[in-house]
Amino acid sequence: MHNHRLSILLCISLLGSAAQSALAAAGAPVQQQAYAVSAVAAGTASSLARTTQLSLVNEQLQQYGQSFEQLTVQVTPETASRLHVKVAPTGQQLWEVPESIVPRPGSEPGLSSSSLQYAVELSQPGQPFGLTVNRKSNGQPIFDTNGHRFIFKDQYIELTTNVPEDADLYGLGEVSLPTGLLLPRDGTVITMWARDLASAMPYVNLYGSHPFYLQINRDGSSHGVLFLNSNGMDVSLNKTSLTYKVIGGLVDLYFFTGPTPEEVIRQYHQVIGAPAMTPYWSLGFHQTRWGYQNISVLEEVVANYTAVDLPLEVVWSDIEYMSTRFWTMEFDEHRYPAAKMKSFVEGLHEQGQHWVAIQDAGVAADKGYKAYEEGTRDRVWITDHKGKDYLGQVWPGKTVYPDYLDNANTSRWLVDNLQHMYDKVPYDGLWLDMNEASNFCSGMQCKPNRRNKTATYWLEVETPRDYNINELIPLRTTCQMSCEEPAADNKWESPPYNIQNFDNTGMRENRQAGLGWKTIAPSALHANGAREYDAHNLYGTAMALEHHAAVEKITGKRPFLLTRSTFPGAGRFTAHWTGDNGVNWENLYMSIAGIINTNMWGMPMVGADICGFADMAFKEGGSPDVIPESSLRELCNRWASLGAFYPFSRNHYAYFTRSHEYYQWPDVAAAAKKAYSLRYQLLSYIYSGFFLAHVKGGTVARPLLFTDPSDVDARNATAQWMMGEALLVSPVVTEATTTIKPHFTAGAWYNAWDNTRMTLSKGQAVELEVPLGDIAVHYRGGAVIPTQPYAKVTRDIRLAPVTLLVTLPAEPAGKSEAAGPLAPYAHEEVCAAAIEENEGQLVSCGLLYMDRGDDIQVSADNTVQVWYTAVSSADGRSGTLSSTIKAHAGDAAGKLRIAAVHILGVPAAEGTAVPAASINGRPLAAAFDETAGVLKISGIELLVGEPLDITWTLGSFSG
Ligand code: GLC
Repeated sequence: MHNHRLSILLCISLLGSAAQSALAAAGAPVQQQAYAVSAVAAGTASSLARTTQLSLVNEQLQQYGQSFEQLTVQVTPETASRLHVKVAPTGQQLWEVPESIVPRPGSEPGLSSSSLQYAVELSQPGQPFGLTVNRKSNGQPIFDTNGHRFIFKDQYIELTTNVPEDADLYGLGEVSLPTGLLLPRDGTVITMWARDLASAMPYVNLYGSHPFYLQINRDGSSHGVLFLNSNGMDVSLNKTSLTYKVIGGLVDLYFFTGPTPEEVIRQYHQVIGAPAMTPYWSLGFHQTRWGYQNISVLEEVVANYTAVDLPLEVVWSDIEYMSTRFWTMEFDEHRYPAAKMKSFVEGLHEQGQHWVAIQDAGVAADKGYKAYEEGTRDRVWITDHKGKDYLGQVWPGKTVYPDYLDNANTSRWLVDNLQHMYDKVPYDGLWLDMNEASNFCSGMQCKPNRRNKTATYWLEVETPRDYNINELIPLRTTCQMSCEEPAADNKWESPPYNIQNFDNTGMRENRQAGLGWKTIAPSALHANGAREYDAHNLYGTAMALEHHAAVEKITGKRPFLLTRSTFPGAGRFTAHWTGDNGVNWENLYMSIAGIINTNMWGMPMVGADICGFADMAFKEGGSPDVIPESSLRELCNRWASLGAFYPFSRNHYAYFTRSHEYYQWPDVAAAAKKAYSLRYQLLSYIYSGFFLAHVKGGTVARPLLFTDPSDVDARNATAQWMMGEALLVSPVVTEATTTIKPHFTAGAWYNAWDNTRMTLSKGQAVELEVPLGDIAVHYRGGAVIPTQPYAKVTRDIRLAPVTLLVTLPAEPAGKSEAAGPLAPYAHEEVCAAAIEENEGQLVSCGLLYMDRGDDIQVSADNTVQVWYTAVSSADGRSGTLSSTIKAHAGDAAGKLRIAAVHILGVPAAEGTAVPAASINGRPLAAAFDETAGVLKISGIELLVGEPLDITWTLGSFSG
C-alpha cells in the first residue's frame, strides 16, 4: 500500500493543515476574541452547577455564516471525576445527540465541591471568553482554551485547547493510522463522518465517529475528553494544541479525570453506557466469507474444520443467503432454501455450534417483497427533502432506508420481519452491515435510469440463479441511477465549511466530496423531523439499538450483534469489526490499534477480518497490492496466531480474495490449533473481563501502557496489547521475522506456554524468538487467572473444572512508588483491599465470573462471581489463597468446581523440594515443577460457591 500516490496525497493534506495549525498556534489576541462573558449566575444551594452568559463582541470570523449573538455556558460538576460543560445559543433549540442514543447520566446527588478532582475556571464578566479545567491535586491543565479563538455559528463551531507537547493522545476515530495507536501531532486531521470506505485506506474517515480522546501526561496521569456531537467534524492534532471544527449541533463537553487510563475509560463509559454482555459462545472462533455460493459450500466449510480438528464455533452467512434480489431477511430458495437451512442450523446447535446472518441497512424497493411492502405501508423509510421515500442503490439495486431514529413504526416493522426470518431459520446473531448508511449513488434523490441498459438489466430482471459474482457485484456497486445533484447553496448538502471528507476511492485523487457522497442525502428527513445532516453519524447505532431490542424480544436470549458503523453508545447493543481491511502486513499491524481504540469506545467485543478481507488494497486505480501465494500463507499463519487473541475472533474475506480459511494450509491450521487452544483454556478469564466491562465500563483489550502509565517507552508499544488485566499478547507483525523485541513494563511476566518467569526492575524491550506457528503470550505477575481444559466448542468448556493460576508479583504490596506499575485489578474493591491490608507480602488477585451464557440480564441471582486473593510471603515460598464470594447462583454455581491451583514463580529452595498444601485444614496433593518454578496443588474438588481457604508451602529437605 506504500504507493507514491498515497505519499503525495498525504503531503497535500499535511501542508493544508500545517498552515492551519500555524494560525491556531499563533492564537488570537484576547481583545480580538469573538465572545465576552456578560453575566455569571451562581449555582443553587443544592447544586454545584453554574450558568454563564456570553455575548458576541466581535465577529471574528467573517466566513461560514453569522455567529450567534448570545451563548449560555452551563458548567455542571456531575461526579468527583466527571465535569460537564455545555455551550448553546441562548433561547434557541439546536440539534443535539438524542437521549435515546446517549441517555445522559446527570449529576450525582449530594456532590460536594471539596470532593471534585478538578477545578473549572471561566473568565470574569467583561473579560473575553476562556475556559480552563485543571486537576486540583497538582494544577495540571486538563483543558485550556486560552489564547485560541472560539467561534459558534449555526454550521460552524471552532474550539481549541492547548495540549502539552510532551503529552500523548489516543482514541479519536474511526481511522486507520499506519503509525499505530498513538495519535500523530503533526497537523493530522481526523475527520468524523461515517462512510463505507475500506479500512485498508489509511488516514481517511471510516465507518464510525468517535469524538473522544484519552490524554496521558508525562507523569502518567491521564484524563479524557468527549465532545458529544454527532455532526460532521474535523479534529486537528497539532504540536501544542487540538482544534475541533464542527458543522452543527452544540458544544457538549465531558471531562474525565481518571487518573489512571482505565479509570478514564470507565468514567467515559458511565456517560455513553457500559457495553452489552456478549454471549459466552460468541467468544469461540467464527468463520465467514463473502461468496459461499450455496448451502453445500457452507456445509463443506463446517466439515473441513472438523476434518482438521480445529474448533469452529460459529459459521456465518454473508449476502448470498438472501433471495435472488438480495432481499435482506429472506432466503434464496435455490441457493439457500429456508427449510434446508433450518435443519442445517439445528444440526449446528446440536453440535454446540452457531449461525449468524448478515442484514444490510438498505432494503430492496421491490414490489412483492414483504419487508418493502409493509415498510412502505407503515411509512418506515427515510424521506427526501420533499417527503418522498429516499432511494439509493446498494446490493439489490434500488433501495430504501429504514428510519431507525425514535420511530415506533420501524420498531414494529423490524420485530415483525425479524420474527418472520427467525421462524424460518433460528439465527443466533445478526451482522449489521452497510449502515453508514452506504449508498453506491450520491444525490438529493435518485431514480432508476431506464435509458441505461445495464441498469435495466439488474433493476428489472431477477438476478440469474447461477450468477457469476465476479461480474455481478462490480456492476451493482457502480451507480446505475440518475441522481438529482444538490444546488451549490443547499445548506445541508453543501454547508459553508467543508470537513475533510475526501473522495479518494482508488486513491486516484484527493477530491473534496460532498457530505452526501455515497450515502443518504444530508437533506433527507427522519419521521421525528431530524435532518440526516445532523443524524447521519447515528444511523448504525440507531440500527443496532433497534435490532438489539427486537432480537431480545424474539429470541428471549442475550443478543449477539455485529455492526460496522458506530457512534458513542453503540457498545450497549453491539460488537464491532474493523471493516474491509487488506490482505497485507500493514493491515495486520493496524488491526491492533483498531481493536484497542474500539475498546476505548465502549465496544470490547471487536475483531478485524483475520488474514484480511480484500486481496487488492484498492480495487480501482493504484497498483493492486496483491501479495504472492507464499506470503499470503505466512501472513495468514501469523494472523491466525494473533487473531486468536482478538476479543472477537473471525476469519472473513471477500469473493475476489484467495481462500484463507485456516484449513487451507496445514501449517496455518497448526498455528491456529496452538493459539486457539490457549484462548479456549482462558475463556472464563476473558469472559470475566467482559463481565467487568459490562458492569463497570472499561476495556477488555487495552494498550500495554495501561499496566504502567508512567513507563514512557510503553506509550507507543502498539504491536502488542493486553487482554484484560493479566494477559499480554505480543505478535509478530512483519514478514520473514522470527525475532521480535516487544516491550514489557516493570514487574514479573510469565511465558504462557511454559510458565517460566521473567522479572524486570524497569520497563524494557526483551528479545524473543518466535518461530512461525508460535506467538508470544505472557501472564502478568500479581494475578489469579482461571483456566479450563480445551474443548472444541465452548459449550463443553463452560462448566469444566477450573485450575486457578496464581502469578506471584515481583514486588511486595506497598513497596512500589506512587508512579509505577499498577497491580492487576488494583481498581477492584476486593483486590485494592488485599493490597492495602498485606503490606510487605506478595498479593495476587483475580475474578472468576460465569453464567448460563446467554441470559438477558446478569445479576447476583443467575451468575457466579468469585474473587480470589492469594497472599504469599515475600520470598514466595508460602502463602494462602482465599475466596470472596459475591454471587453463586444458577447452574454454574451447582457444577463449576475448582480442581487445582498452580502457583507460578515459586523459587526453588536448596535441597529437595517438599511442597505441601491443605484446604480448610484437609491435606491436598502438591507437586513442584522446578524448571518452571510452579507449585501444583490438585484434588481440590470444591464448588465455586463454597468458601475456599488454601494454605501452601514449599519447604526443603537437605541431606
Ligand atoms: C461489505 C462488508 C463486508 C461484506 C460485504 C458483502 O463490504 O464490509 O464484510 O462481506 O459487504 O456483504
